Amino acid sequence: MIRIGCGNSENYKVNFYFKDESDLKELSVNIREIFGGEYLQSVFLAKENGTMSLLMGLGTEITDRLQIKELSAKAVKQLKLYKIKSFSMDIEKIISAYGIDCIRDITEGLMLGCYEQIKFPEHKWEEFEITLTGIIEKETEAAEFLLNETIPVIEGVRFARDMVNLPGNRLRPAEFAKEIKIFLNHTGVQVELFDFAKIKEMGMGGLAAVGESSEYPPCFLILRYLADPNNKEITALVGKGVTCDTGGYCLKPAASMLGIKGDMAGGAAVTGAIYALARNKVKTNVIGLIPICENRISPGSLLPGDVITSYSGKTIEVINTDAEGRLILADTIAYAAANEKVTRVLDIATLTGAVVNMLGFSVAGVVTDSQEFFEEFRSAYKRSGERYWRLPVYPEHEKMIKSKIADIKNVGEKYCGTITAGLFIKAFANGLPWLHIDIAGTAWVDSPIFEYQSQGATGAGVTSIYYLCNTNRSGDRKEK
Ligand code: BES
Ligand code: ZN
Ligand code: ZN
Repeated sequence: MIRIGCGNSENYKVNFYFKDESDLKELSVNIREIFGGEYLQSVFLAKENGTMSLLMGLGTEITDRLQIKELSAKAVKQLKLYKIKSFSMDIEKIISAYGIDCIRDITEGLMLGCYEQIKFPEHKWEEFEITLTGIIEKETEAAEFLLNETIPVIEGVRFARDMVNLPGNRLRPAEFAKEIKIFLNHTGVQVELFDFAKIKEMGMGGLAAVGESSEYPPCFLILRYLADPNNKEITALVGKGVTCDTGGYCLKPAASMLGIKGDMAGGAAVTGAIYALARNKVKTNVIGLIPICENRISPGSLLPGDVITSYSGKTIEVINTDAEGRLILADTIAYAAANEKVTRVLDIATLTGAVVNMLGFSVAGVVTDSQEFFEEFRSAYKRSGERYWRLPVYPEHEKMIKSKIADIKNVGEKYCGTITAGLFIKAFANGLPWLHIDIAGTAWVDSPIFEYQSQGATGAGVTSIYYLCNTNRSGDRKEK
């Protein structure tokens, strides 16, 4: 629980210091020998009256609000090390340097810094009690507003992390669908579920073919949040929901297998974002569509060389059974374009290893044919602080996925795999403005890059999608 407070009654306090003589002068010479206010430096200090302070360094200046998020996360992580669960944090210096809007970054950092992944057999999540002090009276209302808006957004991120962190045997397709339903309970989001029989009956040939590979059947979720009836714009948010991707008959090598439980990060991100939009009653129209299945080996599994017929009627030559994500996304996007009156499509997926080779673990790839859509997404990710990079698309890339025996094939040539994967999906968008996000590199970190991450799932995409659909805000982050 985070609250805006006043007073200084807490036994444990966090105090920030700039790396600046005049700011540090209240500290004793002894302390200044070990604490100079370096960015992210932290030192515990016991006071004579029995209280404890955690001194946190701000560095010479705050140039990017992401730093505030990191600082808050680091503070909570330090306190957690000593099992301190209740403390106050004096944010006066941060607010004077960066304005009241940074309550958002502070809240994000605090809520993500204390995140813990589910541990088996039992998970005891202990919430923190944090009081933010140093806010002047006339800004408390604004601070409350920002705090209350940010909490559901980060709950969405934490949900996405939880889902990705869950082992494959604890999150079969039906269980993933159930978790999503439960999470969206009482939010006003309407949830519809198609079972395997319905998927086959509808002619979703890609999802049926991949889903056939497992004894745990596939399903398909539609999440409708239509809160702006006078606006005809409806954004489809499509998220890959492969709860376990072994590669199928094109089996992944053992060393690549550990991350396969996280192949539903796109679906989890879509859910997290829609949850936050609904909880904050944002005036917008979105429809989430999540194809959910496993990609495994069974007598009925897809084989390389097979030709399947997708929902759109287009035939697909399956070159590689490990390129399963695009097969299920193709059906989903075609379904959205044909049945849901959507006016643009965003899809998010852990789609290619190629994006990891290209951009690493902190930058996700974007493929789109719409400059306008990209500009909107760009201003959204500037707000969230996530990093993205748009890749080029040209007709020669499209040629790479032409098939001799079907309308299209699911793998291109050896190179530019992220671009061809994106273009494969585009072929099913029926001409709607479309934007594809490949989070194969950013959905998971083995060693955290930023303080607000912990080993495992990151919750990639939730905040950027939220801000894309909620444009009534100020406060873009500075361009780097
Ligand atoms: N889910 C994987 C992509 C992936 C790779 C996610 C690494 C997370 C980390 C996807 O289904 C896949 O296997 N893609 C193949 C495509 C290839 C066969 C054309 C890949 O990138 O190797
Ligand atoms: Zn795969
Ligand atoms: Zn996959």
